[in-house]
Amino acid sequence: MGARTARAARPWNVFIEGDNLEVLPALPARSVDLIYIDPPYNTGNEFAYRDDFRHGVGQGSRATRHAAWVTMMRPRLQAARETLALTGALFVSIDDNEVAHLRLLLDEVFGEDNFVAQIVVNLNPKGRQLGWGFATSHEYLLVYARDLTECRLDATSADLVNPADFPLVEADGRRLRHLPLRNTNKKFNPVTARTMHFPLWGDPGSGRVSAEPFPGSVEVLPVFGDGSPAVWRWSAAKVERQPEDVICKLIRGRRGERVDIFQKDWLHPGRRKKLRTIWPSEEIGSTDTAVAELKTLVGHVFESPKPTGLLRRIVATMPADAVVLDFFAGSGTTGHAVALLNAADGGTRQCLSINSAEPTRPGSNAARAGLTTVADITRVRLRAVAEQFGGGFEERRP
Ligand SMILES: C[S@@+](CC[C@H](N)C(=O)[O-])C[C@H]1O[C@@H](n2cnc3c(N)ncnc32)[C@H](O)[C@@H]1O
Repeated sequence: MGARTARAARPWNVFIEGDNLEVLPALPARSVDLIYIDPPYNTGNEFAYRDDFRHGVGQGSRATRHAAWVTMMRPRLQAARETLALTGALFVSIDDNEVAHLRLLLDEVFGEDNFVAQIVVNLNPKGRQLGWGFATSHEYLLVYARDLTECRLDATSADLVNPADFPLVEADGRRLRHLPLRNTNKKFNPVTARTMHFPLWGDPGSGRVSAEPFPGSVEVLPVFGDGSPAVWRWSAAKVERQPEDVICKLIRGRRGERVDIFQKDWLHPGRRKKLRTIWPSEEIGSTDTAVAELKTLVGHVFESPKPTGLLRRIVATMPADAVVLDFFAGSGTTGHAVALLNAADGGTRQCLSINSAEPTRPGSNAARAGLTTVADITRVRLRAVAEQFGGGFEERRP
């Protein structure tokens, strides 16, 4: 049996109960492709890190609370980094309370050069109505590569491609749009990109374009809307190699009619679009939809789960056989998202979730449902996920 077959037979979801600081160092080095974590936020009310309180830095001023949080996170991030493959990446959810401190800490542990993005995630579209000030409706995702030069993260998504953005239809049924072949960025002009300012030849009747004159063609130079000289995005050689992907048209510009050249941009199968750094709740879900997802599966047993849409988008930035790790797993959203993606695309992703046996609040829905620790919540969800979507579930000892 080949290594890939053996790996595909492993369960999609594995859970380890324990303090992540003890579990992480025991994991094989460089065995993980993607880490997602949603650490406890430092709200100032109930930040309780026993280790830090024992060392006397957990209470008191705002500064000491930040210091305690960073002290809690540093060794965990250092241990987590060791588990990451050189091609891997880390995503961390964080809100305004610690984003600045976390960014500096990640610069320290992962290196500033490995910073990938700070994404704004709109999880509360109505905005927080309590208290003074703005109705905060977003938090952040900080993204770092283990090694930016090796990282396999693909920051594009097929889900964002909208067929309506490709309004034209070729005779053979293929959808496309026309994009100006001229570089619309004013930074690029005949002074800064001299070799890209050259004449092309086109016939607006037939649409044909060539780098050489042909019968019926007119000379076309790249110009901005105001008539000032511009540059092309394609070299003459590329135009000659791909004549089917360019078209000459008569257009009505600001200064009257003119002939211009356009790229035929096709909606080909498998087309993807770059992910922006603002993720709206309409695309990834919200805290409300996350609560509803959890409720459908196991009940309203956790206050602040993340939506599976957020995790599906994160996990999908890595290949379909990625090994994923979430060491602040909470209600197990990451494992749920991994199973949903595998079920949808036939992938063989695996997810290792870790959560401590933090007691649930007495009288809470979870406690009343017999789930006495958060680890019980993680377990019950990942078991329900395996029953509903397949892929299996296994519990391991630390
Ligand atoms: C903000 S929640 C994560 C929620 C999760 N993303 C979800 O969608 O349900 C943080 C979790 O970290 C767990 N936790 C806190 N300290 C931990 C530690 N030292 N080791 C393991 N888990 C810990 C808490 O029990 C809590 O469930």
